[in-house]
Amino acid sequence: MPDESLLAIDFGTSNTVAVLARGDGAPEPLLVDGFPVLPSTVFNTRDGRLLVGRDAQRASASDPARCEPNPKRRIDDTSVLLGDREFAVPELIGAVLRRVWDEARRVNGTGVDRLVLTHPVNWGERRLGLLRAAADAAGVPVRPTLIPEPVAAAHRFAADSVERVGPGRFGLVYDLGAGTCDITLIRHRGTAFETGHTDGLPDVGGLDIDYALVALLRQWYPRGDIWRRLESPDTPADRRHRRLLWEDVRTTKELLSRESSASVFIPLLEVDTHLTRTELEDVARPLIRRTIDVATRVAAMADGGVQAIYLTGGASRMPLVATEMLRALGVPAIVAEQPELVIASGAVRAAVAPTHQPDAAAVPVPPIFEYDPTAYNTDPVPADFGITPEEIRNVQFSTVKLREGYDEEEVDAYLDEAEARVARGETPAVPGQTVVFKVTRLREGYAMNEVDDFVDRLIALSDAADARGSA
Ligand SMILES: Nc1ncnc2c1ncn2[C@@H]1O[C@H](COP(=O)(O)OP(=O)(O)OP(=O)(O)O)[C@@H](O)[C@H]1O
Ligand SMILES: [Mg+2]
Repeated sequence: MPDESLLAIDFGTSNTVAVLARGDGAPEPLLVDGFPVLPSTVFNTRDGRLLVGRDAQRASASDPARCEPNPKRRIDDTSVLLGDREFAVPELIGAVLRRVWDEARRVNGTGVDRLVLTHPVNWGERRLGLLRAAADAAGVPVRPTLIPEPVAAAHRFAADSVERVGPGRFGLVYDLGAGTCDITLIRHRGTAFETGHTDGLPDVGGLDIDYALVALLRQWYPRGDIWRRLESPDTPADRRHRRLLWEDVRTTKELLSRESSASVFIPLLEVDTHLTRTELEDVARPLIRRTIDVATRVAAMADGGVQAIYLTGGASRMPLVATEMLRALGVPAIVAEQPELVIASGAVRAAVAPTHQPDAAAVPVPPIFEYDPTAYNTDPVPADFGITPEEIRNVQFSTVKLREGYDEEEVDAYLDEAEARVARGETPAVPGQTVVFKVTRLREGYAMNEVDDFVDRLIALSDAADARGSA
């Protein structure tokens, strides 16, 4: 380890984890508020301060509109409205980094010499610029070193894979976090490791499994009035109910990785419902299979197949992940003991490896990692259609039951496609296309006038962009 002190921060969708390496000892997880995992949540107080982590979670109970639980998911938003103030994304991320940075300085006694930040492998220059700006906004006086998350993970596993993988052969790192799934090949070459092809799904993580579980509960208890209150709460009490529901769903899901059944409480309905691991797996399987399909594609690029599969990220604790992986690839996966810590501790090793080669014993991970960020840049093309993917994702319609409405599944599928189109830099709708949704009677549907207004807007924006393009 270097004489200098080094702090590596893995700023995640749900959780931020940091590891501090001091000249005098092995790197250690940094405890913030006594925990190695800091929720990435931020909250704008009425007197204009940004609270972070558990403080922010607690404060959000009374006023969730002032809270953003997943600032990383907002990386492409120009600004984020929290209560009465708009924040630039670097300010929000910066608040989280600042909390960790201050704690590291306090623990270290003196300043911290170097900062390493990890990021999803597919972040391009624009998003990386925002991450650097966040470190600036946090008042960090040093320029951060940026390392892709899978590269960090590969370093964490490299020592193990020297034996397991063997010269010239490949390992696979699978990281299923709260918001994204990243899959990367690592190759053992001579005395070095390098990262190879990497791919992933930007929209699949533990949060999406939470969504799927809520949808299941909704199906079991089709009480439109209650779900409307839970989904678009208007009162402080209902906001609290909503938060309780999501928290309970998340913890129940986590418990089901260890137990075969658990109960989940649905506020307002006041029911404690029984949920089995099999039921959870049934709703999670389509999502997990999508990630396994990507893993299979990536593994197929390894000449001679993959010798070891490393699972990381909190959501990889679901036993289903290892089962499906084994079924698809025939290789038993190695599950990290503390998957949340893998990226930050690997980042420390990655950051020190290149400058500390001579003492092989002190540096178990050899330094050669090839990584070409331009190859995986998926920053959205900044096309100006007058609407962002987030706006489309966040649109909400009232539900009607006794009147005619539009089939919710059809409308949702249409909006998903519109969101994906804008994210790809295409117009939200196909210009000139007519959209017709199935009409529902005596079962829930979306209010037709609201959907019509929104779809008309998407089509008008698309037609206008099309006219500009062909003008
Ligand atoms: N025992 C468990 N079983 C299932 N899921 C779990 C378990 N423990 C944690 N998770 C889930 O893991 C996710 C958090 O993982 P992690 O901290 O690795 O994500 P992150 O780094 O914040 O997100 P990302 O890497 O996508 O930005 C949450 O969705 C959480 O519910
Ligand atoms: Mg992560």
